[in-house]
Amino acid sequence: MTEVIDGEAVAADVRADVADRVELLEHAGVTPGLATVLMSDDAASETYVSMKQRDCEEVGIEGIHVEIDPDAPASELYGTIDDLNDRDDVHGILVQLPVPEHVDTRQVLRRIDPEKDVDGFHPENVGRLVAGDARFKPCTPHGVQKLLEAYDVETEGADAVVVGRSDIVGKPMANLLIQKGPGGNATTTVCHSRTRDLEAKLSNADIVVAAAGIPEFVDGSMLKPGATVIDVGINKVDAETEKGYALVGDVDYDSASEVAGAITPVPGGVGPMTRAMLLYNTVKAAGIRHDVDVGLR
Ligand code: GUN
Repeated sequence: MTEVIDGEAVAADVRADVADRVELLEHAGVTPGLATVLMSDDAASETYVSMKQRDCEEVGIEGIHVEIDPDAPASELYGTIDDLNDRDDVHGILVQLPVPEHVDTRQVLRRIDPEKDVDGFHPENVGRLVAGDARFKPCTPHGVQKLLEAYDVETEGADAVVVGRSDIVGKPMANLLIQKGPGGNATTTVCHSRTRDLEAKLSNADIVVAAAGIPEFVDGSMLKPGATVIDVGINKVDAETEKGYALVGDVDYDSASEVAGAITPVPGGVGPMTRAMLLYNTVKAAGIRHDVDVGLR
């Protein structure tokens, strides 16, 4: 029987744990604050950001939200980041990506104070992650790591294949899986659009993390029986539904769930974990800033 990995349940546990740590901060007179910045009129981005704000409220983090007209000059976003960097009540800053084309994403990420960079995308934090001394693990791969841990999926010595090489998911995911220590020590292969014979790589994988952004790219025929399959994808495809579309992952769920030992659904798998780990990083950031031991690695 294939086990369906319940990301909602594990995320609820993480949120409850984060809420306890928010109390530790409150005892020390600190209310953690997370600023989200949206410079986009993309409906999905708007939804993601509003869900992040709602999560903050649930665990006692003060949410601050700034919206910037997507046609505004990049300088407006930079000015907003500078202001948030200077604010003592803001411990974490998240600029929702993608930003408009006329804004240089790299410059945006470099401008955020690395100690408030709860996404873990600033080059200083990327470097620390690669060096095995992470300050903020990027939320999606960190969430995947937590899911594997929650379901007792052994990474040590496992053959893991990450499909996708994005800065947000694929690269940090591979880095977490190869680190020494719990949740790491996996023999990790990163596959991408130029990979030759993806099937051969996948057929040997004990753990597959699909994060290529291609609808139903991985199917059951490619998988090793019993593999753990983590689907990071969330793709809009045309469908005869009321809305005219459906959301599907990077994994063909029906065929993959016939072969996999455990699998995440879309939605309800990785998505809630990404949001939960953002709260985790925000509380960690507040603890670092105010020298309160909140007990988060
Ligand atoms: N857009 C899609 N995923 C993410 C994420 O993890 N962080 C930010 N800032 N933007 C995103």
